Amino acid sequence: MNDEKNLSIKVNPTSNTAVTTLIMLANAHYEKALEILEQMGVEKEEIFHGVDPTDMVNRPSDIVRELRYVALNRTIEESGLNILMDIPCGYTPRVFDCVEKGMHYIGCDLPAVINDFSPIIASMTDEEQKKKIDFEVVDVTNYESMKAAADKAEGPVCIAMEGLTVYLTPGEMEQLMVNIRRILTEKGGCWLSSDAETFDYYMAVFKAVAGDRAMEYLMAARKGFGGQSDTDLHKNNASVVNNSGGKNMAVDYEKIEARYKAKGLLVEKIPYYRDDIELKLFDAMTGEEIEKLKDNLKHVNVWKITADPDFKEDTDQADPSEMSEIRDLPFEVKSSVSDGLFEESIQGRMDTLTAPELLKQFQEAGENITSIHVDVSKMAYVSSAGLRVFLMMYKSLEDKEKFKMTGINAAVREIIETTGFDTFFIQV
Ligand SMILES: C[S@@+](CC[C@H](N)C(=O)[O-])C[C@H]1O[C@@H](n2cnc3c(N)ncnc32)[C@H](O)[C@@H]1O
Repeated sequence: MNDEKNLSIKVNPTSNTAVTTLIMLANAHYEKALEILEQMGVEKEEIFHGVDPTDMVNRPSDIVRELRYVALNRTIEESGLNILMDIPCGYTPRVFDCVEKGMHYIGCDLPAVINDFSPIIASMTDEEQKKKIDFEVVDVTNYESMKAAADKAEGPVCIAMEGLTVYLTPGEMEQLMVNIRRILTEKGGCWLSSDAETFDYYMAVFKAVAGDRAMEYLMAARKGFGGQSDTDLHKNNASVVNNSGGKNMAVDYEKIEARYKAKGLLVEKIPYYRDDIELKLFDAMTGEEIEKLKDNLKHVNVWKITADPDFKEDTDQADPSEMSEIRDLPFEVKSSVSDGLFEESIQGRMDTLTAPELLKQFQEAGENITSIHVDVSKMAYVSSAGLRVFLMMYKSLEDKEKFKMTGINAAVREIIETTGFDTFFIQV
């Protein structure tokens, strides 16, 4: 693994989860998924787990991914829009589905994925197809990166999102909503995702094949996914992950929709179920399982989200003045080392795109660091990727009291306090 990729994955390990859907789609007989895996050098033995009818963990998991993929593709097509921003694109073959339909495809993901994936797709497409394909490095908490991606084509955009929001903290989710509303207000279009109903579409499939034991098998499957990254699944404002092991399953969707509304986003629900629904993996299910699945899907939706034209920004929530001075400063890390002391000052946004630079400078400082002073007075935002780097630095010290953070400003205080970081960092 090259250094850049290594650093990027260290600050945000969710990139490790991206290959899962691809493997599952290959198991569901999607030729292009298999070709991409071959290009990635993944061995056949790592791909095929076989579709064993008694397998109540892999089989329903494969069905879930195919179902989600098919439902989103269908809704993208029905949006009638010609530009697709696939965020995060991971390694899925959706690019081929879009180009075939004449759409302009903009694949967006973190650097670890984009730097791997875009040359693979370049090698699998001809010159005409390439004109309609772009890949952009995007961190969804970073508006500028999303805007740069959206500007790759002119006109209203369809933003399709699958499998991301469960990895975001509540603060990151709020930032994502704000960013999407800004993009949709400027460009027009819609945001399509069934992430809010993640738990429901998993249960629809697991119940169809495993009946009363659905929760038990779903938890076993989730344990497997958990191994792919050390990031927790979050219970954030907009997606629902049931951590209760089967108890307390009621989901308050009205409350979730109200959170979108508060951010200027309107939700319309498009059911997964259609009379003509077809999955390749129906050939791995019994007739009874298929009927049960169809029935369960009547309660699962893709959310079609648009910008509320009547939305007014809450001026009471405007940035405190000290924040507005630093908000637009470019990202910069300055560091120095002397006598075992690593000193650094951070300016601008610390997110998945910028945090690798901080980690790089810390790693280059060598192994004899005994104390760390971080000045965050000009840090405008910190996402979980930035916090993860602080944590790595903190953990590297033998005497933890020698980690000092100074200048915690209004912009980042809430994030630092709500994540509990303030309790073990010494502030001066
Ligand atoms: C489970 S994968 C889903 C990918 C794809 N949609 C699929 O279904 O295979 C999660 C993806 O989220 C990406 N990701 C995580 N945090 C992100 C962020 N802040 N901004 C953009 N992408 C992010 C990861 O790199 C990874 O590709």
